[in-house]
Amino acid sequence: MGILPINCKVFMNKVTTSAPGKLLLFGDHAVVYGHPCIVTSIDQRIQVTVEKQKERKLTLSAPDLGLVEYTKHIDELGQKNIPKAVSFIETLYSLFLQRCPQEGGIVIETKSAFSSSFGFGSSSAVTVAFAQALSELYGCQLSKLEVFQLCYQAVITVQGVGSGFDIASAIWGKTIYYVTPAKVVEPIVLPELPLIVGYSGIKADTATIVRAVAELRMKKPEFVAEIFSEIENITNRARTALLAADWQTVGSLMNENQVCLEKLDVSSKKLNDLIVAARNAGAYGAKLSGAGGGDCMIALGEKKEQIDSAIGKAGGESMNVRAHADGVRVDFKE
Ligand code: MEV
Repeated sequence: MGILPINCKVFMNKVTTSAPGKLLLFGDHAVVYGHPCIVTSIDQRIQVTVEKQKERKLTLSAPDLGLVEYTKHIDELGQKNIPKAVSFIETLYSLFLQRCPQEGGIVIETKSAFSSSFGFGSSSAVTVAFAQALSELYGCQLSKLEVFQLCYQAVITVQGVGSGFDIASAIWGKTIYYVTPAKVVEPIVLPELPLIVGYSGIKADTATIVRAVAELRMKKPEFVAEIFSEIENITNRARTALLAADWQTVGSLMNENQVCLEKLDVSSKKLNDLIVAARNAGAYGAKLSGAGGGDCMIALGEKKEQIDSAIGKAGGESMNVRAHADGVRVDFKE
């Protein structure tokens, strides 16, 4: 996938953008290996404000990430110790400048409506919001696909692994059927999605769990290939059921997807407890969402209060999250 040349003209002085977090509905892990997934954007967003400065430096304030004023000279981007919280932004900026050199520097401020512990994709949301803000600030008019390519390159540079589904979700928004790396991005038109979200209280390390699945795949290639093709089949049936707003079928496919994830050994006792509690409280179905090991589980159901309360009694924290939110957007410019 080649990166398209970026043609920039100086345009704005200050721009604020925001991008949504995400929840993976179907296809977790299999999506890394070229199988499809279905992801929905959520109404919790990360906001990024960028402003030009004369000095050739990057100045970043990200109080939600524990950074008050991080400064780096443009010539030193990507060098020396980079705090984890800054790595996506610094890498993205460096990649952007390679394609669209600028004279001065930049002041960046980020604000997040959610904690990075939830597994809502804070890194991809902040990267996408920043890329869109740069595009607006310098008048580059990047297409969605160009923003994807830039952000995906940044994420792979920092993390080494990932399907990019979270970046696509932050860009296109709503609910999409996705094949890596944005080979297929197909909107799934929905009336609403009665999604319930429970936080396990445990922060999962996605890269470690993705590597554990890669090891299992090396040891037992046929076993894992069979699970991935089962997940693909479930994801394709789920697309049809979602389009028909057939929540009962979507729920039972979530249960089937969870069985596959348990076979891959990526679930956990805590996640299983919350999933079983949600099902017993009347959910059509439930599964983990994302890498597993911790983060969040999701359930589909109309009895929100009962399901929320069951998740709480099982030791989880039910989250007030609405699915099917808008993708990256410009909130303000001057
Ligand atoms: C992690 O949120 C989802 C995985 O499928 C990894 C990825 O797609 O990048 C496990």
